[in-house]
Amino acid sequence: MINWDEFEHIHVIRKLKQILSAWWNIDVVFTDERGHLKGFDQEKTTFNNPAVAQLLLKETARNSISEMVAKTIEDLRTSHNRYSLRKWDMVGFDVGIFPILIENDFVGTVVATGFFREPNLGPRLEEIRERLAAFGMSPDTIDKCLGKLKFLEEQDRLHFCEVCELVAQEIVTLHLEITSRENRIKELNKELGNRFKYDNMIGKSKPMQSLYSLMDKIKTADSTVMVQGENGTGKELIARSIHYNSNRKDKPFVIQNCSAFNDNLLESELFGHVKGSFTGALRDKKGLFEMADKGTFFLDEIGDTSPQMQVKLLRVLQEGTFMPVGATEGKKVDVRIIAATNRNLKEMVEQGTFREDLYYRLNVINIRVPPLRERKEDIPYLVDFFLAKISETSGGAKRVLTKRALEKLYDYAWPGNVRELQNEIERLVVLSGDETKLMAELLSPKVLESGDKNKVQGARLQGKLKDALEDLEREMIREGLRRTGWNKSKLAKELGISRAGLIMKVEKYGLDKRKIAR
Ligand SMILES: Nc1ncnc2c1ncn2[C@@H]1O[C@H](COP(=O)(O)OP(=O)(O)OP(=O)(O)O)[C@@H](O)[C@H]1O
Ligand SMILES: [Mg+2]
Repeated sequence: MINWDEFEHIHVIRKLKQILSAWWNIDVVFTDERGHLKGFDQEKTTFNNPAVAQLLLKETARNSISEMVAKTIEDLRTSHNRYSLRKWDMVGFDVGIFPILIENDFVGTVVATGFFREPNLGPRLEEIRERLAAFGMSPDTIDKCLGKLKFLEEQDRLHFCEVCELVAQEIVTLHLEITSRENRIKELNKELGNRFKYDNMIGKSKPMQSLYSLMDKIKTADSTVMVQGENGTGKELIARSIHYNSNRKDKPFVIQNCSAFNDNLLESELFGHVKGSFTGALRDKKGLFEMADKGTFFLDEIGDTSPQMQVKLLRVLQEGTFMPVGATEGKKVDVRIIAATNRNLKEMVEQGTFREDLYYRLNVINIRVPPLRERKEDIPYLVDFFLAKISETSGGAKRVLTKRALEKLYDYAWPGNVRELQNEIERLVVLSGDETKLMAELLSPKVLESGDKNKVQGARLQGKLKDALEDLEREMIREGLRRTGWNKSKLAKELGISRAGLIMKVEKYGLDKRKIAR
């Protein structure tokens, strides 16, 4: 139910763990409600205390954590305690167990260990030595461990518990955030049809299903088709697919981008020219229309053609004839035309920049390709398709996105549509190196920072969290300054920050010597 693996990568939780480690040498792990370790990776999880790291690899120590967690949960159910601090009998030092509660259900715990609550360690040190040795630990590891164990007096203990409770709360917030997004994704999935692809076109959404059935209907017709859609929505893919599903499929499919050339060049490109018709026309040249005879001609970016060019195109459409540059006789061709544009042609007609008669000639069948933001339910299918393609071409195992990364992709508006998504995925794979799990952190900043921030519960709580942490920090520094007699170097070392960093914080919190003395 809870996605434990994600938490290691969540900034706030990592930060809180760092604080526990830097201030009190305390290590933290998570368990489910039965006390089984979660989100723990033998190779990747790092620990402050080497003995704790080794203990977590041992079955007996893990079982003893499970037992303590079970007892604690039982105790918390019946008492009014919020958490439990106890001695970890098996090893001799102390452990804190903080419940993770979702709607009054215990779903897991935060287990923090590697400290003491009593000042007088004398006899216990020997006990710890013996017990750790019984686990097969080297004297060196044991010495290091003893060096790390801190005595937490009451004030410290309260702070420590506060941070651990924050960790537990943060996990709850994240979980709720994830579930609400999952529900949204489930809602979107209800909108899915049954075909997930059409040739090389991927998409399971309703708008794509309508597109597929329209394409089915028109494939054997010879009518002109106009494909309209934003950049990168797949207009060319659609044009290809129409051609390769039509009766003309064994004849040429020719593409010309109408915005790439100046008029003269475009004209000669489209219609060809006769030898000597202009400087450099050394021999007759066939135009693309002629080459596309019996096939399909794809006129891309049709909205960019000049008025003169528009007249000539109209003639091909009306009469099936065209005039090569410098020729005296027209030529006849049989081509099916598919035109595409990302501009609003209708508006251009109203403004007089695109010929109305040409518009209607082209617009016999109109295909509107929906932008990706109107069919986000296609995102996982597209991602899967791109990842499969990448592993096919570059070898290597097929990568998967973490849930959080996928959610980020849902939140982003994709102004560059499918092409932008494809580029994003390729970038992510490159940045992830050998890693097969693709983490949200490596997405590009625009994607990572998107999303409706007001809707995200975590945003509000993070504000609260920031306040809480600052309160805590202020309190700890104030107290530390008093205790160390304003020895900033000593305190900075204790807190695990630089002296300059401490001085900045002292100023930030207005911890003036005179004020504190009062
Ligand atoms: N539905 C889809 N499934 C899989 N790949 C897609 C899909 N739509 C677009 N693509 C991919 O996205 C990229 C852009 O597609 P395409 O060139 O057809 O878009 P376009 O609308 O012609 O873009 P532009 O307006 O920029 O010319 C291509 O690599 C294409 O393979
Ligand atoms: Mg295109």
